[in-house]
Amino acid sequence: MRDTSKNKIIINGPAKLNGRVNIAGSKNAVLPILAATLISDKRSIIENVPVLSDISNMISVLKELGKEVFRDGDTVVVKPAKELKSSASYELIKKMRASVLVMGGLTGRKKNIKVALPGGCAIGVRPIDMHIKGFKKLGMEVGVSEGFVELKEKKLKGTRIYLDSPSVGATENLIMAACRASGETRIENASVEPEVLELVNFLKAMGISIKIEGCIIKVKGRKKFKKVKYKVMDDRIQAGTYLIAGCLPGSEIKIKFSHPGVLKTVIDKLQSSGASIKVDRKYINVKAPEKLRSMDITTAPYPGFPTDLQAPFTVLMALADGVSLINEDIFENRFMHCPELLRMGAKIEVKGESAIITGTGKLSGAPVSASDLRGGAALVLAGLAAKGRTEVYEISHILRGYDNIDMKFRDLGADIWME
Ligand code: UD1
Repeated sequence: MRDTSKNKIIINGPAKLNGRVNIAGSKNAVLPILAATLISDKRSIIENVPVLSDISNMISVLKELGKEVFRDGDTVVVKPAKELKSSASYELIKKMRASVLVMGGLTGRKKNIKVALPGGCAIGVRPIDMHIKGFKKLGMEVGVSEGFVELKEKKLKGTRIYLDSPSVGATENLIMAACRASGETRIENASVEPEVLELVNFLKAMGISIKIEGCIIKVKGRKKFKKVKYKVMDDRIQAGTYLIAGCLPGSEIKIKFSHPGVLKTVIDKLQSSGASIKVDRKYINVKAPEKLRSMDITTAPYPGFPTDLQAPFTVLMALADGVSLINEDIFENRFMHCPELLRMGAKIEVKGESAIITGTGKLSGAPVSASDLRGGAALVLAGLAAKGRTEVYEISHILRGYDNIDMKFRDLGADIWME
């Protein structure tokens, strides 16, 4: 784990990135998979687990619930609990929204579950109404009071659940909850993001029958589960962030990532901005264009443009020729990086769920603060492109999702360090 006494990232730019970078395992796939280990009392071995604060937080939540968890490098072993507990405290849950996923893991194992309402990135209101609606349909009595969600099991029974929008977390929570319900649960308008599919594959390895037809996920509940060993895919959002970094002026890098198909929408956009991107068996090879062209993006569920790469993309738009437009269709407050980018010389006008960016061709170094994970990554990219010294504060947000970000960019030739 990184030294938590370091609280800022300093960059002397501009950097022309060159070289190779490895991508860590997918944080957003490991988090639900760790929560899913609660479903069974057999041991689980999870490989390719990134070293990140969000992951240690989820491990702490599992330990609080009674699981024995061991970590050796990028492998995490979760052993059965001597006594599985049913309540997760605010102290741990507040650090990360994804901890709400333990509700799904505990469903069917505990009659009364009590989990603090989540915290996490400050990107909008982020309610959990769809999770709650789904739990109720599965036969749970759900109450929310004094900052806690309380779930009481009446009779856990397979059912049809329609999600008003394809929420990633609600889909994951309800798939897990359905694993111990009697009969079949059918989740309609479900999220089918690659990370959800990773959870599904993990659960299948545990012996659960799950079928996916378009945006419908069908889960057949059972009571007995198998031991499982599962290697998680690499992190597509981290890979996408480095892909964007490879488009910063003068850069040419190779990104080791074995699932380039999941980044197709992003690669298409970068190519339309003039970048040269070639995919081979091991690497995505990216070369920045002489001049970035403006581009428009609208975030959408997979396979649409990922909301998690919207903020990093803003940096390219700020450097491009002409006017670019972002429509943020997933979260209602995901432009918090924009006021910080203005301080670095960007021209951005935020209007509700849209941002209009007039490329200025250049950015200049400035002290800035990260207010969320991906917005923070965008500020690091901006610092790499900017002339002069950038100091990024509040980096705990960034370290939730990017392992060794300073070292990785240093290895690519940037003058960057943590203090
Ligand atoms: C996950 C990802 C996050 C990503 C997001 C969208 C993890 C740990 N995090 O977050 O990085 O940005 O998917 O791809 O995997 N909503 C409701 N009611 C609900 C649930 C969600 O209104 O019950 C809304 C949210 O406020 C948000 C939108 O739906 O506006 C999408 O949220 P959701 O897909 O649930 O995102 P997360 O699972 O929190």
